[in-house]
Amino acid sequence: MAKRIGHFSLLALAFCCLAYAYEPKPLQDFCVADPNSSVFVNGMACKNPMQTQANDFYFSGLHLRGNTSNPFGLMVQPVTVAQLPGLNTLGISMVRIDYAPWGINPPHTHPRATEIITVLEGTLEVGFVTSTPEYRLITKVLYKGDVFVFPVGLVHFQQNVGNKNAVAIGALSSQNPGAIMIGNVVFGSNPPISSEILAKGFQVDKKVVDLLKEKF
Ligand SMILES: *[C@@H]1O[C@H](CO)[C@@H](O)[C@H](O)[C@H]1NC(C)=O
Ligand SMILES: *[C@@H]1O[C@H](CO)[C@@H](O)[C@H](O)[C@H]1NC(C)=O
Repeated sequence: MAKRIGHFSLLALAFCCLAYAYEPKPLQDFCVADPNSSVFVNGMACKNPMQTQANDFYFSGLHLRGNTSNPFGLMVQPVTVAQLPGLNTLGISMVRIDYAPWGINPPHTHPRATEIITVLEGTLEVGFVTSTPEYRLITKVLYKGDVFVFPVGLVHFQQNVGNKNAVAIGALSSQNPGAIMIGNVVFGSNPPISSEILAKGFQVDKKVVDLLKEKF
């Protein structure tokens, strides 16, 4: 009997914590971000609900093509809590991604969100890599209308593998997903990580590290 109860409580505990970690329930209808608040909370403080307006829940412009004239051939237009304050506390956001022919979205990760994308135009090769110890690359070529998911925290990338522009729309499971661009974090931090550490860490000559640092 005692054993059964113990088992049951363990199960209850597992359900409780999974639910709280991944699907926090709002305690009110909304909490529109107040960018002027000096209160530090996990997220952003709420604007007075009586002063919220339709525009707090609104963003316009995702029909516009991004300017991809840059070395990556990429433009990302985010619609997170920074652009749409009504997203605060709701655990969801959106992006439009434009790719020039053969443009790339370089390897990066979102520390706080799973991302699901759909291709509106063009052909994309996408992939993500599993964590230690396998480091398995999971990759696929996507066509118009295809959908692919990048699990939270995993390093992923996309490349336009066609001669025409490509466009994707992504949805992310955080109002503030964050982005960690691998190249920038490792070779472009401020102040820089010492070249000794990077040379030993990547098992290459210091000159290779210095060359990469110049790029970021
Ligand atoms: C924040 O402060 C600025 C400058 O005082 C003001 O123009 C803006 O309307 C304020 N924003 C909100 C959401 O209260
Ligand atoms: C696109 O970006 C490039 C590089 O920043 C700039 O020179 C060009 O004027 C931009 N084009 C448009 C249409 O804004």
